[in-house]
Amino acid sequence: MKKIALSEHQARRAKLLSLMATNSICVIGAASAQTRSNDTEYNFRQDSYFWYLTGFNEPDATLILIKDSAGQTHVGISVQPKDEQAEIWHGRRLGADAAINSLAVDSAFDNTQLTAQLIDMFSGKTTVYSLFIQSHVKRAVDKTILALKQIPKKGVLAPSSHIDVQSWLDEARLIKSPAEIALMQSVADISAQAHCQAMQICKPGLNEYHLEAEIQYVFARNGARHPAYTSIVGGGDNACILHYTQNNQPLQNGDLVLIDAGGELEGYAADITRTFPVSGYFTTVQASVYNIVLDAQLAALELLKPDALIPEVTQVVVEIITQGLLDLGILTGNLHDNIERLTYRQYFMHGLGHYLGLDVHDVGEYTHHGEPRPLSPGMVITVEPGIYIAPGSDCPEQFHGIGVRIEDDIVITESGNHVLTSDVPKTIADIEQLMSTGA
Ligand code: GLY
Ligand code: MN
Ligand code: MN
Repeated sequence: MKKIALSEHQARRAKLLSLMATNSICVIGAASAQTRSNDTEYNFRQDSYFWYLTGFNEPDATLILIKDSAGQTHVGISVQPKDEQAEIWHGRRLGADAAINSLAVDSAFDNTQLTAQLIDMFSGKTTVYSLFIQSHVKRAVDKTILALKQIPKKGVLAPSSHIDVQSWLDEARLIKSPAEIALMQSVADISAQAHCQAMQICKPGLNEYHLEAEIQYVFARNGARHPAYTSIVGGGDNACILHYTQNNQPLQNGDLVLIDAGGELEGYAADITRTFPVSGYFTTVQASVYNIVLDAQLAALELLKPDALIPEVTQVVVEIITQGLLDLGILTGNLHDNIERLTYRQYFMHGLGHYLGLDVHDVGEYTHHGEPRPLSPGMVITVEPGIYIAPGSDCPEQFHGIGVRIEDDIVITESGNHVLTSDVPKTIADIEQLMSTGA
């Protein structure tokens, strides 16, 4: 299976070290297991930053980067101690001895030594870096500094500044390397296959959870054991609830079903939405709404390239959607007034897309000095316009209960973009064709 090479993790740490001041230390924490109920835990998901820097999938580890006053660097890690009983019950632990080679670090020690090691390593440093969103690490940093100050004579050696390192790491994570893009292509392929399979098995009488199960089967069967986020399978009106995750209603003949689901592979997410008819055939009214969203999405895909600005592309999408809603009589009046009064927001109430990577809503700045940030090669973003006409909307009743979103994942290339999720059909003809080959 594809993985990010150890050398790439080393290069990521080297980049962070290069940004650190001399005589400084940086502390990045792993995630901890989370209780689901009583004695059982949620599937372990590593902290995305820690994973990005180490590729190490155990809980409760701490990565420590040091740059001394001469600019020499040192990478250390604190890990769960080897423990025969704990490993019999809960699984293998790498342990400090093996960590050095396995994670390509300079030193490793057991968590039992962490407090004392931090006091020692902080001593004489000027600056500490950490991720302020890792509140447990932030607290440990504060505690270490206080402890150091209380040691007679050593107190003067406590660091005097504590800096958040998130913006550096977010910037690094925003631009994906070729290896990251290859992994994201793999998880996009698996997720596309899952959507195709759901289309093929769909028929009236199934429940939303049958499609969810099929999707998750294909993810897991291909090594993407967990979804990157809770799958959304909304039939009929449920498609108009943006974060619907109940997924337990029967699928009705004549309704559309919206599936928003993506797998996670080696930490990287896919995020795909398709909307299709439960019966295998769109009605004329459904098709009329669907094609507005498709036109808008295709127009956006044409425009998303280096130096493009997401708000400008969004404006084009808004114009297409608003004009489409006017043509169908869902909105009334003229285009300009409707756009100015934001009337389309009743039906298209979210953004065009977001960065995608180790987090489904991935990190990275969308603005720079208050201005929209131009796209650059290596960014991976979603493109996901939608129209949601909830029951009771102020428009002709024939449109009520239609919810459509079409979401693809793209990587910005030197010359434009590459659609990672093109294996799953989205034109009406292609969807109906694929569905006709199913059960
Ligand atoms: N699946 C979450 C989103 O589309 O943003
Ligand atoms: Mn999305
Ligand atoms: Mn999505």
